[in-house]
This record gives sequence, C-alpha cells and structure tokens, in this order.
Amino acid sequence: MSQPLRIGVAGLGTVGAGVLQVLDRHAALIAHRCGRPITVTAVSARHKGRDRGIPLAGMTWHDDALSLAADPNVDVVVELIGGADGIAAALVEAALNAGKSVATGNKALIAKHGERLAALAGAKGVALRFEAAVAGGIPVIKALSEGLAANSLSRVYGILNGTCNYILTEMEYTGRAFEDVLAEAQQLGYAEADPSFDVDGIDTAHKLAILTSVAFGTPLDFESIHVEGIRAITPMDIEFAAELGYRIKLIGIATHGEKGLLQRVHPCLVAADKAIASVNGVFNAVVAEGDFVGQTVYQGRGAGAGPTASAVVADLIDIAQGHVHPVLSPPVEGRSAKNLSMDTHEGRYYVRLSVDDQPGVIAEIAAALRDESVSMEELLQRPNGSGQPVSFVMTTHEVVEARMMRALARIAKLPFIAEKPDVIRIETF
Ligand SMILES: NC(=O)c1ccc[n+]([C@@H]2O[C@H](COP(=O)([O-])OP(=O)(O)OC[C@H]3O[C@@H](n4cnc5c(N)ncnc54)[C@H](OP(=O)(O)O)[C@@H]3O)[C@@H](O)[C@H]2O)c1
Repeated sequence: MSQPLRIGVAGLGTVGAGVLQVLDRHAALIAHRCGRPITVTAVSARHKGRDRGIPLAGMTWHDDALSLAADPNVDVVVELIGGADGIAAALVEAALNAGKSVATGNKALIAKHGERLAALAGAKGVALRFEAAVAGGIPVIKALSEGLAANSLSRVYGILNGTCNYILTEMEYTGRAFEDVLAEAQQLGYAEADPSFDVDGIDTAHKLAILTSVAFGTPLDFESIHVEGIRAITPMDIEFAAELGYRIKLIGIATHGEKGLLQRVHPCLVAADKAIASVNGVFNAVVAEGDFVGQTVYQGRGAGAGPTASAVVADLIDIAQGHVHPVLSPPVEGRSAKNLSMDTHEGRYYVRLSVDDQPGVIAEIAAALRDESVSMEELLQRPNGSGQPVSFVMTTHEVVEARMMRALARIAKLPFIAEKPDVIRIETF
C-alpha cells in the first residue's frame, strides 16, 4: 500500500469531531478504497483542554491554526472553523499557497472567495474541495460537476437550509407562529442564537451561489442574488396555501438561459404533490434539470456531524485517489453570465390582503391589478369578526415581477388596507 495521506484538521467542533470519527471508524475501508490510508497527523481548535469525545493522541496540536499550512507532516488541510474571512480564509489561502490541497465545509468562505481560491488551487495544481458546503451529506457538488457533466443545465433549485425548513414544517404541523417555533428551534440546537444567517435567507444564498457556479460554469456571484427570508410567513399564509393545494418552502433557485442568469432565494408556494413539497424538517433537497438527463432530484440530511463529515471525508478520499481537477470550472465560453434583475422574473403570485370591511374594496384592488395587466386566478376569503378587518387571498396568473410589485405598491396605499400586503411567489416546478 502507498504512503498515507496526512491530514491536518482545523476546527474540532460538530463537523471536525465528526470527520475524525469517520476516519477512525472506517480507517480500513477508506484505506482499501483509496489504496492508501488517510491519517490525521495534526489538529487545531481554540480550546486545547476541551473534551471532544475523540482521541487526539499521536496528533500534533497547533494553537495557531495557520501553522497547519506550514506543518511538514500535513499534506492536506481540512478547514472546519467557519466564517467567510478571518482565520478560516487565511488558513485556506496559506495551505493552497504552500501547495497543499484543501477540503472545507465553509459555504460563506467559498461563496465570497471561492473564485480567487479556486484559481489559486488551479495555479498550484492542488484541489480545493467543498462538498460539505452545500446540502451537508447530499453529494450534490459531485453530482453536478461529474454525474451531470454531459448536460447543459438550465435550472437548479433546492431547499438548502434545514433550520428554515424545520421552522416552516413545524409552523405547518402545529399552527404556531414563526417566533415561537424559532425559539424552540434555538433550544433544540437547530437554530443559532443569532438566527439571521438562516432565517433571512443568507445561508441559502451562499449555497445557491456555489450551486449556480458549479451547475452553469458561471462565475461565483453571491452579490447578485435576490434574497428574502421567512420572517414574514404567518400561520394564516400556511393555512391559505394548504387550502389552495400548496405548501410553503424557502427555496434557492437559479435559472440560466439565453437571456441570462437569475438567482433568487425566497419563500415559495409549491404544489403539494411535487417531490420538493414533501421534504420536511431538517432535510434538504436539490433538483437539477439538464437537457439530456431531464430532472434529477437529490434528498438527504443537510447538516449535523455525521452527514457533513460524510461529505468532507468523501472529498478526502477523492484527493487521496489523486483527483485534483477543479470543481469550480472556468466560465464556459459562449454561455452568457449576464445577471437578470428580479424585476424580470415571470411567475404567479399569492397575495394576502387585510382590508377594512366596506363596499367597493374588490373593485379598487381589481383596477390596480388591471392597470398593470395582472390577472387574478383565485380568490379566497376568511369570515371576519364584526368590526375586524377581512383577510383574503388572491392568486394571479403569470405576470412580470415589476408589474406585480407596481400593482401591490398602489394597493398598499388604498385607504381601506389594514396591513401591508403579504406576497409569496408561486413556483411551478
Ligand atoms: N454543523 C453543521 O451541520 C454544518 C453543516 C455544513 C457545513 N458546516 C460548516 O462547517 C464548518 C464548521 O462548522 P461546525 O458546526 O463544526 O462549527 P463549530 O461546532 O462551531 O466548530 C468550530 C470549531 O472551530 C474552532 N475554532 C474557532 N475559532 C478558531 C480559531 N481561531 N483557531 C482554531 N480553531 C478555531 C472551534 O474551537 P473550540 O472547539 O476549541 O471552540 C471549534 O472546534 C462551518 O464552516 C460550517 O458552516 C457545518
């Protein structure tokens, strides 16, 4: 058997400890698959004395994670600290500069600096792998970059944040409000103390930026993504959606065609009989559509020690087998990377309005819609208590986003509108 591949692991938290466990428990299997063992020779974390439930004997401890890049007994650096900048970014850059391959689960880092780091890895002839950065245990980066490589992909989308999917699923099953379920998710450890990265859609956008680039060969472009989170979703929306035959999911969607590229993250109404609508709780799903293969669907656990470590170790096995080809390929010639604005999106809409109960309301709303060529499809109304505003929901036929938003802005100013209109896009996957 050949020389072992020597690994230095920075970060021994949920994922780092999981990686050490997988490498230990499946040492023989992994050595067989790679034709050589994978050995952890060095580690780094903040607190040396912390009990992590894993033996660290025989591994060199580095107080400064950056020094893993210069450790002569480390061939490959595994970055599992997190954060788009700071020590994680410095370590990955130093390791690549030192001619060492890197595996990371850090979506924020790849979404922000992936382009530059991939170019550096390419120049040094080493690998930069990040399977764990998108959809945890689902091997979607490999599926897109290798399994579907024969196709021209037109659309990729998915439920990419388990925290949001857990919250929406719980809201649906229990009828509780967003804040209530979020507080419970924080207690259970499914949501961070500062949940904004998750619930405001930023984490989904980081992952979508990476998926887009891998799927279409376009430059990584996080900044152009239209991002909305799930804070505004109410139990009433979920009820109305169910009555109309839909479920509400936070979805990241990228489409690439002749006109250009549109990346968007927002809550969607998805027909209840679609595969993606039944992905519940902390599970993730990704759907990719290619010209020859048609639609492919991937589903699994998007986070947690086991699934994420499974993805990191798969990258290490690839590297041990000598596969250092770039995952973020240079932009494909002739494929437009022009970014389309959200205003150009064409789709159907769900609008919930709360209005004072008086004659002529529907006529004025209908006029605002008519003037922007928005055509109503369905209308649902809830009975109201006397003197209370009336809640009703309408869905529209397909219309350009800019027109829909202009109509809504006008409706919002009508004197009988009791609350800001609530709008959710309907996706026909
Ligand atoms: N958790 C998941 O399910 C999941 C899923 C997909 C991707 N990821 C990504 O994987 C990465 C790690 O996530 P995690 O959940 O494992 O995080 P975590 O549990 O918070 O662990 C972070 C680790 O980094 C160490 N660390 C922090 N600052 C450091 C520094 N300056 N120098 C050296 N080590 C430092 C911490 O040390 P101490 O332990 O000593 O404090 C800890 O061991 C992140 O990029 C995350 O986005 C996580």
